[in-house]
Amino acid sequence: MAPAIVLNQHGDMLEFEGRITIYVVVCVIIAAFGGLMFGYDIGISGGVTSMDDFLKEFFPIVYRRKQHAHENNYCKYDDQSLQLFTSSLYIAALIASFVASRACTRFGRKPTIQIASIFFILGVILTACAVNLVMLIFGRIFLGFGVGFANQAVPLFLSELAPAKIRGALNIMFQLFITIGIFIANMVNYFTANLHPYGWRISLGIAGWPAALLLFGSLIICETPTSLIERQKVEEGRKILKKIRGVDNIDNEFDSIVYASEMARQVKNPFRKLMKKSSRPQLVIAIWLQVFQQFTGINAIMFYAPVLFQTVGFGSDAALLSAVITGLVNVFSTLVSVYAVDKAGRRVLLLEAAVQMFITQSIIGVILALDLKVTGSLSRVEASIVVVLVCVYVMGFAWSWGPLGWLIPSEIFPLETRTAGFAFAVSTNMLFTFIIAQAFLSMLCHMQAGIFFFFAAWIVIMGVFAFFLLPETKGVPVDSMVDRVWKRHWFWKRFYDDYIDEKNTNMTIPPHMT
Ligand code: BGC
Repeated sequence: MAPAIVLNQHGDMLEFEGRITIYVVVCVIIAAFGGLMFGYDIGISGGVTSMDDFLKEFFPIVYRRKQHAHENNYCKYDDQSLQLFTSSLYIAALIASFVASRACTRFGRKPTIQIASIFFILGVILTACAVNLVMLIFGRIFLGFGVGFANQAVPLFLSELAPAKIRGALNIMFQLFITIGIFIANMVNYFTANLHPYGWRISLGIAGWPAALLLFGSLIICETPTSLIERQKVEEGRKILKKIRGVDNIDNEFDSIVYASEMARQVKNPFRKLMKKSSRPQLVIAIWLQVFQQFTGINAIMFYAPVLFQTVGFGSDAALLSAVITGLVNVFSTLVSVYAVDKAGRRVLLLEAAVQMFITQSIIGVILALDLKVTGSLSRVEASIVVVLVCVYVMGFAWSWGPLGWLIPSEIFPLETRTAGFAFAVSTNMLFTFIIAQAFLSMLCHMQAGIFFFFAAWIVIMGVFAFFLLPETKGVPVDSMVDRVWKRHWFWKRFYDDYIDEKNTNMTIPPHMT
């Protein structure tokens, strides 16, 4: 798979002709609904699993335990099958993303997005109409297949469709739609919590509309020129490129895509190339960024915010409302990163946020350790302070480890290993999202307030990692990374001591690219 190349061989940005056409904007918005579906699924489960009607129907033991909540604040929701409801989606997505990466290459980005939307719709029908636990879990698995296919195809689709100069902004658009999905889910939960007895069905069923929009929308979006050219549909690729750029002269960009596809085609097995010493720096960073992103503890908040707020003593309503506020903070803080990422740089954002998240997690831990005993609850003032701290923590995540966890792995690999490397990032993300989803409530039960110190400790580790091992990539053209970043980095340069660029230098380079 080869994304559109828009740099010459020296790594300089090429200005291609073209406008930002309405058609591209429409395509981007439709595709980003894949991100919205992902976000909606993240946000909806926490609220639904705190609804009594839902618990009575599928998890009666948890429901009964909840009735005696005063017995143990930290353990009332600890139930493996309840966690399986949340986490089954991510394990399904992890498996699906490998299949999806093949589908992307063989059939194209557009059919992969369409398959994603069909999985989403099946998943929504099964979960919203579920009459037993099996149907419910199968529904989540189908939703997971949808997430796996969408997360593999949509970011690629966006990068390949976008004019070069706004590709970075469009990349974060995916994250923005994730946060919007989480927020909508939180709001929906807030209103359906009091609709008895089937509020939860409405919560799960509403996911049908973005899924349907994605399906019908996908009928009008185009395939990316890169994917068409890569699959030898060269003339069709040229036609589509003309259409999306809205100008007649697209020759330079067209030649670049053909050239990039040829170059990438020379690397017969990108996964094998990825295992070579010279790919180690990028692979290590792409994988660890995903592990760190999840070990910030963000999804403990995103999945379980209402549950968490109930644990510290809010009623169901207040708990959901607090989760809505968190969701809103998440959306607006993501906008900050759209502006700051190319000005302040990646490292500043990651390091500043690590400090911010460490402080907030630690204070939450101290408050809970001192005042939230196994029974009883926090005072109103203390509970409100916890909500404020959670918001400050989410802010930090939203302008740093959230979007950059996706952006950095997409920009550090050289072209020949870029999509294979990115596939590793996606699957690692899903794996660790699964681990957090499955383990958090048990960890809360066993570690109690200590869980916040656990995440705080990880934040120290990731801060140190970012400080010493993460090079700044702001403003560096993607295809100059090896020379300008990796070979100059105090630690990573040793991986290039005996590096020989294996690209075939006999290839004819389009004249405007030299
Ligand atoms: C992460 C998700 C997380 C979301 C929160 C994404 O970047 O991958 O796991 O729930 O951000 O906004």
